[in-house]
Amino acid sequence: MRAIVVSATGGPEVLTYSDCPEPELNPGDVLVDVTASGVNFIDVYHRIGRYPLSLPFVPGNEGAGTVAAVGEDVEGVSVGDKVAWANVMGSYAERAVVPVSHLLVLPEGVEPEVAAAVSLQGLTAHYLTHSVHEVRPGDDVLVHAAAGGMGLLLVQIAKLRGARVIGTVSTEEKEELARQAGADEVLRYRGFADAVRDLTGSGVHVVYDGVGATTFEESLAALRPRGMMALYGQASGPVPPVDPQVLARGGSLFLTRPTLAAYIATRDELAWRASDIFGWVASGELRVHISRRYPLSEAARAHEDLEARRTTGKVLLIP
Ligand SMILES: NC(=O)c1ccc[n+]([C@@H]2O[C@H](COP(=O)([O-])OP(=O)(O)OC[C@H]3O[C@@H](n4cnc5c(N)ncnc54)[C@H](OP(=O)(O)O)[C@@H]3O)[C@@H](O)[C@H]2O)c1
Repeated sequence: MRAIVVSATGGPEVLTYSDCPEPELNPGDVLVDVTASGVNFIDVYHRIGRYPLSLPFVPGNEGAGTVAAVGEDVEGVSVGDKVAWANVMGSYAERAVVPVSHLLVLPEGVEPEVAAAVSLQGLTAHYLTHSVHEVRPGDDVLVHAAAGGMGLLLVQIAKLRGARVIGTVSTEEKEELARQAGADEVLRYRGFADAVRDLTGSGVHVVYDGVGATTFEESLAALRPRGMMALYGQASGPVPPVDPQVLARGGSLFLTRPTLAAYIATRDELAWRASDIFGWVASGELRVHISRRYPLSEAARAHEDLEARRTTGKVLLIP
């Protein structure tokens, strides 16, 4: 089969479209013919070695498709089922092996391509708005990169929960998308903490910050006393070490650096979040904005565009 292989860490050019052996199907695994693979910023961190993996590897943590074969000890899944997954490596490929513990069987009304676009980021937006900070009606919420893959989902889900949502974006086109997703206010990054204070008085209840290095300090300044700083990513680079006293000075702030794995650690938790996300997609309450589809062979171009901030919403690779 054909897949993207990374044999040395580096720039987008290390994403090599190659012939690979078929993946091995062990007990508890399901083999899937991939319809689409989701591109996520974590794939960039893996590619450049910021989150080190042993080489060589097939990148990609998310996808959807049709079950082609079922390993021993797998129950409740049959050949031909439409499925998706998140947080399983090896998705930039024509076929992927997924442990049944991570497999999501798609309900009526959710097509594989949409599922590939909303699984990892949807589950993440769910745990951020339901568990890291339980967004309540009337909360003021700040979402950075509000027109990105994560951003558009966070804006919509925070609105579903009754919040007032303030987004930040870098361009007019992105502002328009964030507004269409329901953002009440959309700011540029420069001076955003002051602008947030002008809008809210005392600051926001929670900041969802996946940008990291360039926004972190001001994000803390945008919080109200006892507010939650959810630093869930670092698209602009890693945040330097933090003196805990800054949390005291901000008025007893909370700081967390959460990961999806810790919030889908049990099958029940994964099923709860997936059922909400796919349910909202099927009912039309959650819109999935797929901005770009690239042939799998052009994964390098997809990474270049994601890193250069040229994409909005979701980016897919099609084998
Ligand atoms: N912890 C978790 O569980 C988890 C799970 C999923 C994703 N994440 C994180 O969520 C964040 C967003 O991921 P995504 O896949 O949805 O990407 P994305 O938001 O679609 O793309 C990144 C966006 O970040 C903004 N950005 C600001 N400064 C940037 C810079 N220097 N370089 C690149 N982008 C910059 C850009 O939007 P503007 O041009 O509008 O600024 C860009 O479009 C990433 O940090 C990712 O690691 C974390």
